[in-house]
Amino acid sequence: MADEALDAESVVRPGADELERAAEAALRPRHLDEFVGQKVVREQLSLVLEAAVGRGRAPDHVLLSGPPGLGKTTLAMIIAAELGTSLRVTSGPAIQHAGDLAAILSSLEEGEVLFLDEIHRLARPAEELLYVAMEDFRVDVVVGKGAGASAIPLALPPFTVVGATTRAGLLPAPLRDRFGFTGHLDFYADDELEKVLLRSAGLLGVPLAHEAAAEIASRSRGTPRIANRLLRRVRDWAQVRGDGTLSLAAARSALEVYEVDRLGLDRLDRAVLTALCTRFGGGPVGLTTLAVAVGEEPETVETVAEPFLVREGLIGRTPRGRVATADAWAHLGLDAPAPSGTLFG
Ligand SMILES: Nc1ncnc2c1ncn2[C@@H]1O[C@H](COP(=O)(O)OP(=O)(O)O)[C@@H](O)[C@H]1O
Ligand SMILES: [Mg+2]
Repeated sequence: MADEALDAESVVRPGADELERAAEAALRPRHLDEFVGQKVVREQLSLVLEAAVGRGRAPDHVLLSGPPGLGKTTLAMIIAAELGTSLRVTSGPAIQHAGDLAAILSSLEEGEVLFLDEIHRLARPAEELLYVAMEDFRVDVVVGKGAGASAIPLALPPFTVVGATTRAGLLPAPLRDRFGFTGHLDFYADDELEKVLLRSAGLLGVPLAHEAAAEIASRSRGTPRIANRLLRRVRDWAQVRGDGTLSLAAARSALEVYEVDRLGLDRLDRAVLTALCTRFGGGPVGLTTLAVAVGEEPETVETVAEPFLVREGLIGRTPRGRVATADAWAHLGLDAPAPSGTLFG
C-alpha cells in the first residue's frame, strides 16, 4: 500500500525513498559480472580491483558519478564484495559535523570500503578532514575546547573511499583529485535495460515475455531503477487484472494505467509539452509562464520534467525561453506550425 502511495507521484522519476530501496535490495547485482551494461566503467573497475587484490592492498579511492538510478550504490556494494571486505555506508547530508566523519574514519578497519553517497553535499570542514584522511590515512582528533584544544594525529589503516555523486561538477577540485579512479555512469540502452528486466523477473520469479521486457525497457528512460519499478507495476497488473503472466498486452495495459507513455513520459511531462505546443504555439515561452499554465512551481517544471524532455530532444532551452521541437509536435500527434525561422532562435 505504502509502495502505491509513493508511486502515486509518478512511476518514472529516478529517485527512490526508503521503501523503494528495500524493494531494490533484492534486485541488486552482487558481482561485477552480473552488473549489466556500462562496459567501459566495468572493465576499468575490474582492472583496478583485480590489481589491488593481486597486490594484497586496498585499491585507490573510487568516485562514481552519474544521474540517479544508474547503479552507483550497487557498484559500491560490488566493490566491497569483490574485495572480500565490508562496506561502511554514510552520506554527505548524514554527516553534520567534521567530528561525525572523524568518528567513522577512526573506526575503520584495514581494507574496509567507506561508501560516501552524495559526497558533493558534505559540509566544508568534513571535506577538509576527508582530504587528509584519503591522502595521508590520518585524522586529527581534536581534544579539549577553546584555547586549550589540541589536535592529536591518529593514523588510520589503509582503506578505500567510494564516493558517489549526481553532480560531479560540484565537487571541489582538491577532493576530486584524491580519487585515483573516476567512473562516469551513463544512461542505459534499451537492450541493456531489457537484460536488467529479465534478470529481475527471474529473481522475482515472475514470467516476463521478451516483448514485454522490450516494451518496459523502452519506457524506462534509460534508468534501471525505473525499469525495475515499472516491472513491479506490471507484475501487480498481471496478478490482479491478468492471468499472472507478464505478456506484451499486460505490460501495455499496466503502463497505460500508470500513465507512462511510449517514450516514458508521465502526466506532468505531457502537460508541459502540451501547454508549450497548444497554448504557446511551441514557444519560446518563459519557464514561469509555462509553469503557471500547468499549475506547478517553476522549480518543479525545471528540475522534474525538463531534464528528460530536453534529453529526449522534445524541448529546447533558448535565451528567449522554452521551445518545442518538431519531435514534440509529432509525439503529441499535432501538426507543427510552418517553420518561420525565428521560432527556434
Ligand atoms: N547495471 C545494472 N544491472 C542491474 N541492475 C542495476 C544496474 N544498475 C542499477 N541496477 C538496479 O537499479 C536500482 C538502482 O540502482 P542504484 O545502485 O541504487 O542507483 P544509484 O545509486 O545510482 O541511484 C537497483 O535496484 C539496482 O539493482
Ligand atoms: Mg544510490
